[in-house]
Amino acid sequence: MGPSVLITGAAGFIGSHLTEALVAAGHQVRVLVRYNSQGRLGWLDSLPCRDDLDVRLGDVRDLDSCLAAVDGVETVFHLAALIGIPYSYTAPLSYLKTNVEGTYNVLQAVRAKQVSRLLITSTSEVYGTADYVPMDEGHPLKAQSPYAASKIGADQLALSFWRSFAVPVRIVRPFNVYGPRQSARAIVPTVIAQILSGQRELRLGNLSPTRDLTFVADTVAGFLAIAACEELQGQVTHVGTQSEVSVADLVRTIGEVMGVEVVAIEDPGRQRPVGSEVERLVCDSRKLQAAAGWRPRCCLREGLTATVAWFRAHHHLYDPLRYAV
Ligand SMILES: NC(=O)c1ccc[n+]([C@@H]2O[C@H](COP(=O)([O-])OP(=O)(O)OC[C@H]3O[C@@H](n4cnc5c(N)ncnc54)[C@H](O)[C@@H]3O)[C@@H](O)[C@H]2O)c1
Repeated sequence: MGPSVLITGAAGFIGSHLTEALVAAGHQVRVLVRYNSQGRLGWLDSLPCRDDLDVRLGDVRDLDSCLAAVDGVETVFHLAALIGIPYSYTAPLSYLKTNVEGTYNVLQAVRAKQVSRLLITSTSEVYGTADYVPMDEGHPLKAQSPYAASKIGADQLALSFWRSFAVPVRIVRPFNVYGPRQSARAIVPTVIAQILSGQRELRLGNLSPTRDLTFVADTVAGFLAIAACEELQGQVTHVGTQSEVSVADLVRTIGEVMGVEVVAIEDPGRQRPVGSEVERLVCDSRKLQAAAGWRPRCCLREGLTATVAWFRAHHHLYDPLRYAV
């Protein structure tokens, strides 16, 4: 990978960790942050590397923003997206505009400016409930939410640009990610924030679904491994741990890490509609292991310990009583 990179979605959870890793590795890092009149850069504002970044305010829904942002870089990491599943029930068209049209704009910009490498960020949600486990990259796609449908659309568009125009696309498909700076809509921050506020009866969605949870540093390492591996061009590649934990067991483990006993209660207001609930996701990441030697370094308990420590220092940023979508 050459020295100059662009990250879209850099101000968010995974993007801010990827930004730090790329700066630390010596890259010239440009970031595309969604325009706001205060010039706020999300999590980037709190990073020591803030002043090393070439910041562009813009919007992936705007082709001109994308053309200007990619101009002159060698690698683009496209992470910008709307990602909350419940909000995709409320505002599905905004997901099409951001996730599908936004990806279209990035693809056209990369094509026009002849960028050497483009990583598109997918998600395990594109599969819906597993037909078999562990799930390899050939598992059938099944959208159980407008969010998942928008990500399938974006991925397929990207693959079509590879096949039709040789746009140098690699699809990174992370399974669920957790760690410092994750938004409160996700399960790990929700549980930690409620416990830190003194609650011992936690209000959550469905407790039976299982997920394959990867600590964010391992996910970032997966992005870097895929970027460095030429043979993964034009392909989808998973990043996940090949292990599974139910929401109920996850809550118990977080309670143990935090030294408290908690009871999880299914709150109907937080449950997904039956047909939309993805019951089981377990990653088969052997492709990335074989191609690039990537392996997760952090087990769940270690990752949760690091995440809890970060939330203890930052819990004033999270409102445990509000149901974040
Ligand atoms: N968090 C997970 O567990 C997970 C799992 C699999 C895949 N992903 C994917 O990883 C990527 C990053 O997710 P995250 O968890 O860091 O989410 P996040 O919400 O923290 O970050 C997304 C970023 O995209 C930006 N964005 C949204 N709309 C934009 C627009 N129109 N123009 C420019 N920027 C815009 C947001 O401002 C935010 O900074 C997404 O593509 C998501 O689908 C996340």
